[in-house]
Amino acid sequence: MRLSDVLQRQPLDVPKMVRGRVRQLGVSEIRARINRVLRGLDDVVLDVLSGLMIGRPVMLVGAVGLGKTTLAEAVAELLALGDPPYVEVACHSHMTAVDLTGDIDIAVVLQAGFDHPLSYIPGPLVMAHGTVLVMDELNRLNPYAQAALLQAIQEHYVYIRGYRIRTDFALVGTANPSEYEGVYELSEALADRLKFIEVKMPDKEILRSILLWKAREALGELEAEIPPKLAEILANFAAEAQRAGYPQSIRSLSYALADAVVSAWTQRREPELKDLKKALAANLPHSPETKEALIDLLNRAAHG
Ligand SMILES: Nc1ncnc2c1ncn2[C@@H]1O[C@H](COP(=O)(O)OP(=O)(O)OP(=O)(O)O)[C@@H](O)[C@H]1O
Ligand SMILES: [Mg+2]
Repeated sequence: MRLSDVLQRQPLDVPKMVRGRVRQLGVSEIRARINRVLRGLDDVVLDVLSGLMIGRPVMLVGAVGLGKTTLAEAVAELLALGDPPYVEVACHSHMTAVDLTGDIDIAVVLQAGFDHPLSYIPGPLVMAHGTVLVMDELNRLNPYAQAALLQAIQEHYVYIRGYRIRTDFALVGTANPSEYEGVYELSEALADRLKFIEVKMPDKEILRSILLWKAREALGELEAEIPPKLAEILANFAAEAQRAGYPQSIRSLSYALADAVVSAWTQRREPELKDLKKALAANLPHSPETKEALIDLLNRAAHG
């Protein structure tokens, strides 16, 4: 990425590119492609696309392990507006504005000119010109980095050491609710420019099918049956736990199921409820007291 090219960039109508791609694919093809990686989130995908089609950056919000990152990447992949199809940043609290914009080396510019490959070290806000920018865990960005993002969204330019660089991209961010550690409030100005879309736990029946699917994937070629009954118990348990104020992660639940099956397999027997209990306790990131409450809920889900 040469500074001389970057400085001569022309504006791009990214929302129009998104509209063109959505028209070209059609809604049923979009649903079909998303369903290869995620289930129960079709409506969320259409919400994301409708935001991007009118030039509104979107933010997927939801608890841990509900498919936010996978969904953001799947949408970006599906749109494939550029080459590479999208640019992704894993945001964190120590990120600087320069980490996002990239930096110009003035000494190189003065000695070797704008054409020298080392005059500009690219950053994702600039690299994403003409494509989708996925900003995972966007609410971990500190206020300084948020300001750089805000400028790019609002003015379609970033300023690096006095040079103004054009950038147009479609933004898909993800965030966990703010009660978690290491997370900043979004500035009001930034929040005002985002469409917030909630990612929720799917209903019991869909969850059951996801758990069977994902646990199967984890077990790979291992010839171990996954009892559908255990997946059903787990899906009932997730619903109970959510009601009791302990939302569960699809990631952890899938691994708990696979873990129960593989551990029974190592003992050459069929997986049972006791394997599930043990696997659940080991795979859910909770305090010992919470785990106990959750195991109670699992017992209830199994017997009620
Ligand atoms: N609706 C779903 N259908 C199929 N798989 C799912 C679904 N939701 C989550 N998963 C699976 O769970 C795992 C976790 O998903 P992902 O990392 O996208 O979640 P996340 O919401 O970004 O989590 P975190 O908050 O921890 O970043 C992935 O392997 C994903 O395939
Ligand atoms: Mg994620």
